[in-house]
Amino acid sequence: MNTQNLKRKFTEIFGSSAPRVFCAPARVNLIGEHTDYNGGHVFPCALTFNTYVAAAKRTDGKIRLYSLNFEKAGLVEADLNHLAHDPKQDWANYPLGVFWAMQKRGLSFDGGADMLFWGDVPLGAGLSSSASIELAAAAALNALFGFGLPQTELAKIGQEAENQFVGMNCGIMDQFASAMGKKDHAILLDCHTLKYEYAPLDLKGVSILICNTNKPHNLIESKYNERRAQSEHALKQLQSKLNINALGELTEEAFERNKELITNPVERKRAKHAVYENRRTLLAAQKLAQGDLKAFGQLMNDSHISLRDDYEVTGKELDAMAEAAWKQDGVLGARMTGGGFGGCVVALVKDEAVEDFKQNVAREYETATGYKPDFYAASAGDGARELKD
Ligand code: GLA
Repeated sequence: MNTQNLKRKFTEIFGSSAPRVFCAPARVNLIGEHTDYNGGHVFPCALTFNTYVAAAKRTDGKIRLYSLNFEKAGLVEADLNHLAHDPKQDWANYPLGVFWAMQKRGLSFDGGADMLFWGDVPLGAGLSSSASIELAAAAALNALFGFGLPQTELAKIGQEAENQFVGMNCGIMDQFASAMGKKDHAILLDCHTLKYEYAPLDLKGVSILICNTNKPHNLIESKYNERRAQSEHALKQLQSKLNINALGELTEEAFERNKELITNPVERKRAKHAVYENRRTLLAAQKLAQGDLKAFGQLMNDSHISLRDDYEVTGKELDAMAEAAWKQDGVLGARMTGGGFGGCVVALVKDEAVEDFKQNVAREYETATGYKPDFYAASAGDGARELKD
């Protein structure tokens, strides 16, 4: 759907005209999984799948939201001065959470808004459809109400909406990637300090393929919050001796020397993943800069194995997809991406091998799980922005 069509739909639904149009991308994480809330590094890139929003201010205090992706939910109405999470509001909790988080920062709205959403992001696939809705809303409200917030602040607002309004205790990666994405680049982000660098994705004959298991995941109901609590408890025990603020500060050696401080063996495994995955991410960024995609791919495989065995967030479908991918000719590496428990695998595949890869992996994966997969060629796109025509 182009900008004009979205504007036309806006007029049909809300009866008024002249909205402004904004968009914010989904992301794929190349490596660095479950490291963000552990004060480590992540290496995502924004995609060219986006959530679009046509939005206009209102003079009263009403907020009216409609999504062309969730038409069954109908028009959702809320009152600017009485915002509260309500499961019945469904998808609309994400943009409402953004209003709420902005108000919580003391930003004042001189009226409500009408907002029409539409996205081409695969939903529930672990590609951050929710962050892209939050960031599209945040970019729109920032511009319409003249708040003048920098993109990094919009990312924090999106995260706060998700943590405190929606109730999913996510880290900063998805919102940051959606806010700060850059065409043809990945972002190496230190989640402890929010320092970041753009890394050119110059893959010379290699494609980034996203393989959707089509096993829906729902991180609110999954074990995501539990994993986070386990990591935090492991950190607390390490802090009884070590002067650290986050697992991301540890080297592998320091972890190995001190791991017995973590009394619960399951929590010890969780912490091990966080420490090793962070180091793998830094190494992977170096390898990419050196053009060593083979080493990069091997680190992706190691990442998947650690997420499978130590962090235990993969599950049957993601493992079947990764294993099918690893067997194919022309594959440099493959791993689950995002929160896990379903969603997508990301693979680096030589261009000439892509068609065979898709056919073979689809066959093997479907035989193993009964689900039909989807494949998308990923290209790295820009972050949240206004679309002017
Ligand atoms: C989800 C969360 C992110 C991050 C990943 C795992 O996508 O939203 O903050 O924790 O899982 O790396």
